[in-house]
Amino acid sequence: MKKTFKKQILIAHGVNLDLLGQREPEIYGTASLVSIEADLRRLNPGLAQVFAIEAAELSFYQSNHEGQFLDKLSEGWDGAVINPGAWTHTSLALADRLAGLELPFSEVHLSNIAKREAFRHHSYSAPHAIGVCFGFGVASYVCGLSGLYAFFAKQP
Ligand code: DQA
Repeated sequence: MKKTFKKQILIAHGVNLDLLGQREPEIYGTASLVSIEADLRRLNPGLAQVFAIEAAELSFYQSNHEGQFLDKLSEGWDGAVINPGAWTHTSLALADRLAGLELPFSEVHLSNIAKREAFRHHSYSAPHAIGVCFGFGVASYVCGLSGLYAFFAKQP
């Protein structure tokens, strides 16, 4: 990870989110990972300004490999915005990792998981998050980053 004085935030997309843009667009929309990154980079300074803090440095990551994903979360980030994809609903390993790391993070989902299949209603990771944003499409990520900044702004 690049070392500067700025806070380092990881925007982490889990399994199958590499397919965003082509994958079930009626559920996930047409934004791709590239466009989500561009949107967050563009909005980042303004969001930080809203919370009167210095804009953090954003790093973006996607993996379909759970172990690699867990390793990436463990690289000493100051905070994270995480969309774990289906691991949300299945992965005790992810939950244990998040319980063990002192990593403030927002959990985000593009779709409204509360109004989808019952198996999507439970999140193993959410109990370890500062908060969860879902159902807003790309704006769920903006919400997640805002939540993280609100959290940083409250820190002494
Ligand atoms: C998702 C919701 C999950 O249930 C699903 O498995 C995903 C994407 C979302 O962003 O809406 O892969 O996390």
